[in-house]
Amino acid sequence: MNFQLTEEHLAVQAAARDFAQTELLPGVIERDEHQKFPAEQVKKMGELGFLGMMVDPKYGGGGMDTISYVLAMEEISKVDASASVVMSVNNSLVCWGLEKYGTEEQKQKYLTKLATGEVIGAFCLSEPEAGSDATSQRTTAEDKGDYYLLNGTKNWITNGSTASVYLVIAQTHPEKGHRGINALIVERGMEGFAIGPKENKLGIRGSDTHSLMFTDVKVPKENRIGEDGFGFKFAMSTLAGGRIGIASQALGIASGAFELALKYSKERKAFGVEIAKHQAIQFKLADMGTNIEAARLLCLQAAYDKDTHQDYAMSGAMAKLFASKVAMDTTVEAVQIHGGYGFVKEYHVERLMRDAKITQIYEGTSEIQKIVISRELLK
Ligand code: CAA
Repeated sequence: MNFQLTEEHLAVQAAARDFAQTELLPGVIERDEHQKFPAEQVKKMGELGFLGMMVDPKYGGGGMDTISYVLAMEEISKVDASASVVMSVNNSLVCWGLEKYGTEEQKQKYLTKLATGEVIGAFCLSEPEAGSDATSQRTTAEDKGDYYLLNGTKNWITNGSTASVYLVIAQTHPEKGHRGINALIVERGMEGFAIGPKENKLGIRGSDTHSLMFTDVKVPKENRIGEDGFGFKFAMSTLAGGRIGIASQALGIASGAFELALKYSKERKAFGVEIAKHQAIQFKLADMGTNIEAARLLCLQAAYDKDTHQDYAMSGAMAKLFASKVAMDTTVEAVQIHGGYGFVKEYHVERLMRDAKITQIYEGTSEIQKIVISRELLK
């Protein structure tokens, strides 16, 4: 067993760290405050290859492994989780789903632009009444011969107004339950496709979250991904990898808060000494550091499973379940270590604490991860 990262891995990690510190850190507080999408920064992420990291170079991607992706996600999430969610959705859900299950024509038409970041994508599964219970899709894709007639509403869609390519999950054959669901590629600007107002969120406030409305949108048959009725499996399979991305995001939020708390504890004095000299703080730092290391190992294990073509549904769910709890716990403690300073925006940790919460909700709540894990354990 080898726990050493390769030189290529270390180079990707260093490049992501450098990008996060030089391009994302300036302005991150203002973007959060004003709910401003990091448009320029996302464009640069595309130019640097962070938006299609694992895609085959013949489609414009970086051809990297999932371990590289985890390392880059951690570094970027340490600084700006609003930017890293764009990266995660584009890489794991949209690019991966299209590369794995799309036709050659779909790959040439959509993946090549998504992998280079020329355009970004969105993954549209959640609905007002179908979040965790993803089989209860109300959005319909009626088969009209050479096209589908799409009607319905999607909620909480990341990259909602900034994406150009939307992978939309919809019910075609209600009598078949989840086996009657399809995944369709919908383009921005198709007639009948409307974007609702931006959500005013607790965290990841720079990210672009909207509801989407489809009214008699005609989606050509060639935009269906996979066989008729494959849509639910497409969503589940894609989300299994997506959870590794969100686990790494949670890891990054935790390690970003930890680094800030560690630094602060060596600078801030109380009762005549740096607070790091007090055992009350040392115990917190020891717990935080240990939990982060365990979360990192779970993320790398899941990535390794995926890279070596083993089943990663359970390891990905475990990584997400654990890392998102570590993100929540660590950021709360980081605020506590900072005391009053932790409660104000300039010190970053309050934002990381707010950002951490979403990692326990999206791409399956913690309760959904437990369902996935227990089903695998009981198989
Ligand atoms: N890969 C491929 N197929 C899979 C799969 C996987 N990992 N997991 C399940 N399936 C298949 C099953 O084999 C089954 O197929 P058959 O019936 O043909 O054999 C089918 O999918 C249904 O599976 P289940 O019976 O397990 O389905 P279920 O109704 O019991 O639900 C669930 C399972 C795990 C609860 C699922 O509904 C789920 O994951 N819910 C959460 C949804 C979610 O994560 N939403 C996130 C929204 S996206 C988002 O957040 C993106 C963003 O913007 C950041």
